[in-house]
Amino acid sequence: MRRKLAAGNWKMNGSIPGLDMIGALKLKHPECPCDVLLCPPAPLLTHALQNTAGSPIFIGAQNCHAEEKGAYTGDHSAAMIAEIGATHVIVGHSERRDAYGETDAQVAAKAQAAQAAGLTAIVCIGESLAQREAGDALDVIRTQLQGSVPDDSAADTLVIAYEPIWAIGTGKIPTMAQIAEVHALMRQELRSRFGDSAEDIRLLYGGSVKPDNAAEIFALDNVDGALVGGASLRAEDFSPIIQALA
Ligand code: G3P
Repeated sequence: MRRKLAAGNWKMNGSIPGLDMIGALKLKHPECPCDVLLCPPAPLLTHALQNTAGSPIFIGAQNCHAEEKGAYTGDHSAAMIAEIGATHVIVGHSERRDAYGETDAQVAAKAQAAQAAGLTAIVCIGESLAQREAGDALDVIRTQLQGSVPDDSAADTLVIAYEPIWAIGTGKIPTMAQIAEVHALMRQELRSRFGDSAEDIRLLYGGSVKPDNAAEIFALDNVDGALVGGASLRAEDFSPIIQALA
């Protein structure tokens, strides 16, 4: 049985006062009905960890370098994220693939570094609008999944987030049939690669998840939760999404 996951990606948003939302979440969900994860920007990670101490809320980073250490100004390694007590890291988000030209192979190397450091890697994949309109979405997903997921991934250290690029921050979401189709494809691909253990890999949907569409998305087969951007910044938005997973 896969435990549901509500993950918040704050991107380059948030502040120390903004971490007060964690207190509100703790009050609303003293015992989380699902796994709850917040991924604030790197400078806020230790503060976030202090705020979540003693609660079941997990804290993760939004990126890591594939190397353990070295002359990589501005970067941080998976081991550093693990050392401070964070448990997850997002890799391969489309905003990073786009802005920094991250390739599937680089994303897989980051995911592998994360898993080696004891973190759970949340590997993001998703097609552009042009790819969707050209009828290539499923091929793109298949290729990204094959290239971005390390071969030796253990199911409990891997989460896949399907985030169609055109749905991110736009208020548009795919049809329920399209989400279900992609999630079924991902499960099937993972099954052919990892066998029975693929049943334990959690698959998230991401892209304009809001309190008013969460329940419908979460009711779909193979959707094990969400990677939420904007709606994870405020407890009043994120809490009903968490509740929809209960
Ligand atoms: O990683 C989450 C994200 O890309 C979705 O963002 O704001 O559309 O929920 P948003």
